[in-house]
Amino acid sequence: MILAAILAMVACLPAASAAGLTNATSPDLHANETSAQRDARMKWWMEARFGMFIHWDMSSLAGTEISWSRKSTRPLDVDKAPAGYVEDPVYDHLYERFNPTNFNATEWVRLARAAGMKYIVFTAKHHGGFCMWDTKLTTYSIMNTPFKRDVVGELADACHQAGMRFGLYYSPRDWHQPDYGVGDNTKYTTYMKGQLTELLTRYGRMDCLWFDGFGAGDSIKCWHADEILALVRRLQPHIVINNRCANLWFPGNNPPGVPPSLAADHDTPEGTIGAFQNNRPWETCHMIINTPGGYAWSYRSDQTSLRPFSECIQMLAGCATGDGNLLLDVGPNALGEIPADQAGRLREMGGWMRKNGESIYGTRGGPFHNGVWGGSTYEGNKVYLHVFKWDGDRRVLPPLKARIVKCSVEFQQTADAITLNLPPDKQDKTDTVVTLELSAPAADEMADGLPLGDKK
Ligand code: GLC
Repeated sequence: MILAAILAMVACLPAASAAGLTNATSPDLHANETSAQRDARMKWWMEARFGMFIHWDMSSLAGTEISWSRKSTRPLDVDKAPAGYVEDPVYDHLYERFNPTNFNATEWVRLARAAGMKYIVFTAKHHGGFCMWDTKLTTYSIMNTPFKRDVVGELADACHQAGMRFGLYYSPRDWHQPDYGVGDNTKYTTYMKGQLTELLTRYGRMDCLWFDGFGAGDSIKCWHADEILALVRRLQPHIVINNRCANLWFPGNNPPGVPPSLAADHDTPEGTIGAFQNNRPWETCHMIINTPGGYAWSYRSDQTSLRPFSECIQMLAGCATGDGNLLLDVGPNALGEIPADQAGRLREMGGWMRKNGESIYGTRGGPFHNGVWGGSTYEGNKVYLHVFKWDGDRRVLPPLKARIVKCSVEFQQTADAITLNLPPDKQDKTDTVVTLELSAPAADEMADGLPLGDKK
C-alpha cells in the first residue's frame, strides 16, 4: 500500500522548487520564530502526550472506511483498497440519511478526559469532501442531513467549556469538490482558503490543525501550501500544525529549498510508534479498532477486535519514551456514539493514567534509548522507566553518570551498568513503571542529545 503510494507520488510529480514558494499573500507568522518562541507555543502540546483522534462522518452508516470506501477513482490519488467498497451512487447519498441523534459533544469530551487525553482532533472534512460544519461553500455538509447540527461547533464549545484542547483534521484532498485537481488547482485552493477561514474564525480558539495532504503529488504547489499555512497562522497565531500540508511527512519527500516553516511543527508517523526523536516534535496516530485489513480509522462493521489494553498502554509509553505523543483514534457509529467497547478501552487507559500519569505527562523521552524492552521518560532529576520485558527478575541498563539516590525497586549501580531486580510475580506484564531519582538532572546524561544504549 505504502509502496504503491510512493510510486504514484514519484511517478506523477515534479520536485517542488523553491521558486514556486514565494507567492504568499500574507507574511508567515511562524517563519521567523525563535526556538524559544516555538517552544513556548508548543509547550502545552509537548506536555499533553496523549490525544484523541476522531474519524467520523456519514460513512459510519455504511460501516465502511471513511472516504476510501467510495468506489470511484480518486483524482490525483492512489487506491488504498479497504475491505468493502460502496458504489458511488450509494455513498454519495448516505448523508441524506445521516441522523446521529445520540451525538453529545459533552459526552465525547468527558470520555476523552476520563481516558487521560489532553486534546481532541476531529475530522472536519476527510478526503471524501463531506463537511461536518455549517460551511457556506458547499451543500455537501452536515447542515443538509436530517441532523442539521454543526458538529464542529458543538465539539468546539464542549472542549472550550471543559478546558480540553481542540483541533481539526482538514483534508486538502477532496474527491468530491468539482474544482479539485483541475488545472493548476487555483480555484480549489480558493475554496480551501474559504473553508479554513470559516473554521478558524467562527469557533473560537483552535489549538491544532491536522492536514492530511498526501496523495495529490506536489502539494506544495498543488494547494499553495505556503499561502495556506500563512493564512492559518494569521488567523490563529498560537496554533500547532502537523507536517502534512506541504506533504513533507513522507521520507524523502523533502525537496531542497523548502523553508522549514512548510514542514510546520511536528512529524506524523502513522500506524506505528515513531522512532526516538528528541530534536523535533512528533505524534504517532494510531487506531483503536482492529479489522481484517488492519486499517480502520472510522467506525467499521467488519471490526474484528479492539487493540488489547496492554498494546494501547505500550503504544502510549512507547511514544512518550521516544519523546513523542500518541493520538489514538476512535470511530463513532452512525448514531453519534463512541461504541461501548471503544469507550471501555479508553476508560481502562484512563485508570492506568490516573496511577501512572506522572511518568507520561510533562516528561521528555530519555535518557535511555527505548526499544522492545521498554524505555524511559524523565523530568528534572527523576527518571521513569517503563519496562515491558524483563530478563527473568532483572533488567540491565547502560550506566549513568549521576548517582541513583532513590529507586522504587532493588538495584545495583556500577560504572558499567545499572541492574534492576524485581521478582516476576511483582512485574506488571503490561508496563512496570520504576522510578529513579538521580543526583543530577537526567537531561545531563544526554549531553550530546543522544539517548543511552542501543535499541535492545
Ligand atoms: C491517512 C489516511 C486517512 C487517515 C489518516 C490518519 O493518510 O488517508 O484515511 O485519516 O491517514 O492519519
